[in-house]
Amino acid sequence: MKLTIIGTGYVGLVTGTCFAEVGHQVICVDNDAAKVEMLKAGGIPIYEPGLEELVRKNVAAGRLSFTVNTAEGVEKSDVVFIAVPTPPQTDGSVDLSFIEKVAREIAAAMTSYKIIVDKSTVPVKTGDKVAETIKRYCKAQVDFDVVSNPEFLREGFAVEDLMKPDRIVVGVRSQRPVAALKEIYAPFKSPIIVTDINSAELIKHASNSFLALKISYINAISVLCEATGANVQEVANGMGMDERIGRRFLNPSLGFGGSCFPKDLSAFIKIAEQTGYDFRLLKEVQRINTEQMDRFVKKIADTLWVLKDKKIGVLGLAFKQNTDDVRMSPAMDLCQRLLKEGASLRVHDPKAMDKARSLLPNVTYVDDLNDVAEGCDALVVATEWDEFKKLDLERARRLLSHPIMFDGRNMFDPEEMERLGWIYKSIGR
Ligand code: UGA
Repeated sequence: MKLTIIGTGYVGLVTGTCFAEVGHQVICVDNDAAKVEMLKAGGIPIYEPGLEELVRKNVAAGRLSFTVNTAEGVEKSDVVFIAVPTPPQTDGSVDLSFIEKVAREIAAAMTSYKIIVDKSTVPVKTGDKVAETIKRYCKAQVDFDVVSNPEFLREGFAVEDLMKPDRIVVGVRSQRPVAALKEIYAPFKSPIIVTDINSAELIKHASNSFLALKISYINAISVLCEATGANVQEVANGMGMDERIGRRFLNPSLGFGGSCFPKDLSAFIKIAEQTGYDFRLLKEVQRINTEQMDRFVKKIADTLWVLKDKKIGVLGLAFKQNTDDVRMSPAMDLCQRLLKEGASLRVHDPKAMDKARSLLPNVTYVDDLNDVAEGCDALVVATEWDEFKKLDLERARRLLSHPIMFDGRNMFDPEEMERLGWIYKSIGR
């Protein structure tokens, strides 16, 4: 099918590329001319495993193209996906101005029936607003359908998640666009659930909030484990074997971060508030998340006593492994807090150092993981990169003034670390 994707961020670029990979003819539109030029030349603006190869392959096959021209994208395709950012505002609500602008642009360019599909994460009832806006700004008075089709991909696993989704949610006002959506998604061989638009929009916020809740829950359990001498990893394994609970998203951490969970939780609390419901459960999820970081910083300060003038090596800057994204990263937050206490930092991340540099200028960036510990008083693990498991512990021990490690991702075995002579403090065990 002929498809246009407006917005080439994480969601738009991965969606467009995977649609092309399964055989659709895809035009990706972005108003950032430099980004479009980069993509045309075979480069990609983000690190995402497997994506660069797929973009190149599908551009070469003539199935994937890039343009800054929205009208061209609308004219040449039957189905137009909206995948533009929906950033948070200071009060936690969502800034929908990019969605509104794109809706007007699509309306102005429409000369025949189009299906307009929203992929961006939006508050419930946004579909209605998009439909109203298109109707108002479409001079040609052509027919159209608005569909809500939320995306569930995780950064770092985006291609995998998109090619093999657990489910595809399609929210519609009438049955007319359903066949086209089913045809688009047929190659992915995943269950398709068709709902009304409001339910589809809610499914996205409800899912992300539930996953965040799951993480805060295990982080709260980690506090109890520390207080009682239990081991949170054992507790998570034992809980996770119950199929009703599941082991995934029960990994204790410094707290969740990234461009989705913190933003979507705030938005969902605000959406509930606007309906007159005080979603206190989710406010508690946020509070546990903030306290998790406070507790970790306190753990470091309690051990090192005074942080001022201490040199600390930090492993990880990205908000999680397999990405170079540092937006709302717990690791970046931790660095800022240690710097504020007067510590100096030597930091390393396999992919995120370039993106971190301008946001975190007053630290030493170290290219080799095994050199980070040099002259430091302690090491901190802040992101769960698999590479960190290969850290040369013997060398790190020699380079540190004291063999102290704070592990915010439970990457190492406490008994083994103690046997190797480390003072090792992790989470909930
Ligand atoms: C999240 C959802 O998982 C996706 O399904 C959704 O599509 C996406 O948001 C979105 O709304 O666009 P993402 O933010 O890319 O995906 O990353 P996750 O893998 O969910 O991790 C989020 C944060 O939770 C990270 O900081 C991660 O380290 C943390 N986390 C995750 C934990 O602390 N413990 C866990 O067990 C799992």
